Amino acid sequence: PRLLIMGAPGAGKGTQSAKITEEFDIDHITTGDALRSNKQMDISDMDMEYDTPGEYMDQGELVPDAVVNAIVDEALSQANGFVLDGYPRNQEQAEELEDMTDLDLVLLLDVSEDELVHRLTGRRLDPETGDIYHVEYDPAEDPDVEERLVQRDDDTEDTVKERLRVYRENTEPVIDHYEEAGLLERVDGEQAPADVWEDVKATIEDAA
Ligand code: AP5
Ligand code: ZN
Repeated sequence: PRLLIMGAPGAGKGTQSAKITEEFDIDHITTGDALRSNKQMDISDMDMEYDTPGEYMDQGELVPDAVVNAIVDEALSQANGFVLDGYPRNQEQAEELEDMTDLDLVLLLDVSEDELVHRLTGRRLDPETGDIYHVEYDPAEDPDVEERLVQRDDDTEDTVKERLRVYRENTEPVIDHYEEAGLLERVDGEQAPADVWEDVKATIEDAA
């Protein structure tokens, strides 16, 4: 399938995408992860406000469209089935995507704002495997793993607030677009991860 997963920062897009790629044997295309691996890339030739993606990301702002469009275009050209996570984030990117591929389904993970802040400030990452944990909801069992977990640079309270603002302003209008196109399915993302997964899986299977 060709899937798009949407939702606010912390809604569980990465957590659910990991399960989707495993179950349906498709690619996980995530602009956030791709940009985090290229935070220091020199984009000064684009003549934008900052010279690297990291400077935008650490403040919770969107990286320029041209940079992310190129990442997604390249990844899609190599994928058969995929789950796209973190893109499109504004109307311009949504129009670009339309020229790159069709979609079978758009999943939206619904989560309240208080819960989002709690999830993001408690999130931890395993730098070796990329696995996502949470200090309360999903702590690492293995003490060796626990010891090497790190916090994402943009998971500070101020940056989280700005990311949520950017989401409401730029990304929410894109949801309306998919709703009107009849592609959108909402899933209650505030349940426990396993219950969210059950709903996500059933929704994908129903759409096939
Ligand atoms: P990106 O990496 O896409 O971040 P985001 O959209 O803010 O989303 P997150 O990754 O924070 O949350 P998630 O929904 O994946 O949640 P997760 O599963 O980790 O983007 C980062 C930055 O890159 C942007 O700010 C921007 O600068 C730039 N960027 C990226 N794409 C761009 C684009 N297209 N255009 C321009 N700029 C772009 O879960 C969160 C936590 O909650 C974890 O700790 C997890 O364990 C826990 N959790 C998950 N599910 C549950 C549950 N059901 N119950 C309890 N806890 C849960
Ligand atoms: Zn993510």
